[in-house]
Amino acid sequence: MNFLTQLLHIAGSGAIAYITASSVRDPKTRPDVLAGFQMAESGSVPFLEALRDRANAEGDEWLAVRLDKHASDEKRHGQIFAHGLKQLNKKVIDFAKMQEKKLVDGRPDEEKRSPFFAAYFNGFSQNDLKPQNIDWTVFLASTYILELDASKDFVRIANALPNDPVSLSLKKGILSIADDETGHASYLQETMQQRLGTAKTQQLIDEWRTRKVNALMATVENFVRKGGNMGQMVEEGSPVDMAEIQAADQRAA
Ligand SMILES: [Fe+2]
Ligand SMILES: [Fe+2]
Repeated sequence: MNFLTQLLHIAGSGAIAYITASSVRDPKTRPDVLAGFQMAESGSVPFLEALRDRANAEGDEWLAVRLDKHASDEKRHGQIFAHGLKQLNKKVIDFAKMQEKKLVDGRPDEEKRSPFFAAYFNGFSQNDLKPQNIDWTVFLASTYILELDASKDFVRIANALPNDPVSLSLKKGILSIADDETGHASYLQETMQQRLGTAKTQQLIDEWRTRKVNALMATVENFVRKGGNMGQMVEEGSPVDMAEIQAADQRAA
């Protein structure tokens, strides 16, 4: 990673952390932030489960076991945010319904990608990123960066919450999520080391760090252009719309 990328990473992460912290501190915007996290965390579960099945089918039991734990952790993270929303007397998102809605809105795949994911996975089509197709190296390195950053972002977010009893229990939940994300980053890095060795792993990590910086810039640019909502800050969900893939599989069956 070059020096400029390093600087931009620090500046970009700092700016995002500031915006997220202030929107989670503000009781008016807090429910939206929690709902966004619930979607992202729960949304990654079918993707990870499909990868677990693929690892099993390819005879990599070591990785399959870890992907299985990863999927169940993300399910739990979604539940923690759903519980947080319930405590604020906000309606919890019906995830299945949201997915159905997305299925009928008829927009092309590329348009549905958030500016963040479009920039992060620049050069890859939706098809390349499906769990049955994605290059393992791409999955491992891209997810490693997101998990590593999420582990730090969630600590900042937890600490931005006020100290009333309801917020304190949410804070505890979010700190436990941060711990899980650290664990995810570490098994992903271990898998890269096993498969590629230290030098190639470092090179890949640098490449995806640069992509993350570019994706943060694209997010900020989009924010300025639309003059609106920053949306989801901790990006850790599935890069593809699993509801569509599953619906296509069902049609094919
Ligand atoms: Fe998570
Ligand atoms: Fe995670």
